[in-house]
Amino acid sequence: MLSFDAETTRVLDTAYVGADLTRRRQASFDALAPRPGDTILDIGCGNGLLTEELARAVGTTGKVIGIDPSEDMRASADKRCTGLDCVELIAGTAHDLPLQDTSVDRAVSVQVFEYIDDIESALTEVLRVLKPGGRIVISDIHFDTFTWFSDDPKRMDNMMASWDQHCVHRDVSAKLSALLAAKGHKVSDVHAHTMTDHVLKSDGLAVTMMHLMKAYAVANRHVDAETAEAWFDEQLNLASEGRFFFSMTQFVVMAQKTG
Ligand SMILES: C[S@@+](CC[C@H](N)C(=O)[O-])C[C@H]1O[C@@H](n2cnc3c(N)ncnc32)[C@H](O)[C@@H]1O
Repeated sequence: MLSFDAETTRVLDTAYVGADLTRRRQASFDALAPRPGDTILDIGCGNGLLTEELARAVGTTGKVIGIDPSEDMRASADKRCTGLDCVELIAGTAHDLPLQDTSVDRAVSVQVFEYIDDIESALTEVLRVLKPGGRIVISDIHFDTFTWFSDDPKRMDNMMASWDQHCVHRDVSAKLSALLAAKGHKVSDVHAHTMTDHVLKSDGLAVTMMHLMKAYAVANRHVDAETAEAWFDEQLNLASEGRFFFSMTQFVVMAQKTG
């Protein structure tokens, strides 16, 4: 699995303020619809960009609790949220939340559930801390929607197959409705948020994926360094020739806690 260490934190610190990932974050923010005074749980808060935005929305009468197992990510979130007294950052995981039953109004998780082994017990845990009627928003990429043009489809397939191993569930968004229904809760809506590029934007998602996928494939010996470099360079060349195409879809799943 991808390690959320200092290097990944550094790459994501830059990528997450880019236009593509800002819009993606906005889709989850809108689905959550934070209100002044709310207590909100941000599960896998990472470098804290959404945590900060939620803190401004709940105001001084509200509270935002960011939970993340990565010390490097929490350090970045801590720096970002300096001066926001309503933010509390805690070390922890989705399946073992250090919070009381029915203590939060809303819970959100962006691009985290795909990394969680036991999504069913994580869901049970999040629902435990949510107040009755509280809203939960879980948003993840469905990797079946990941498509990327190449003149060397076999090499692209190898790079995609490598990246498939960076997470646990490549299709978690498709599983959530059934898991919630089995627990007696109902998904109220699912929004698709597609990120498509026909140019290689310097602040886009595609260029971030190029760096992350190249490093991941080589570090895990899925391909050799020369192959990964050639794959990377091909995308630069395709972009300069006006033949670049990249697309993936994030699904924003919204549910209400019953009872
Ligand atoms: C791709 S980042 C997303 C960060 C943030 N939610 C965002 O969208 O900006 C994934 C985050 O999930 C965290 N994470 C991984 N496994 C987790 C788990 N079991 N429970 C909670 N967070 C987890 C990682 O440490 C990392 O910060």
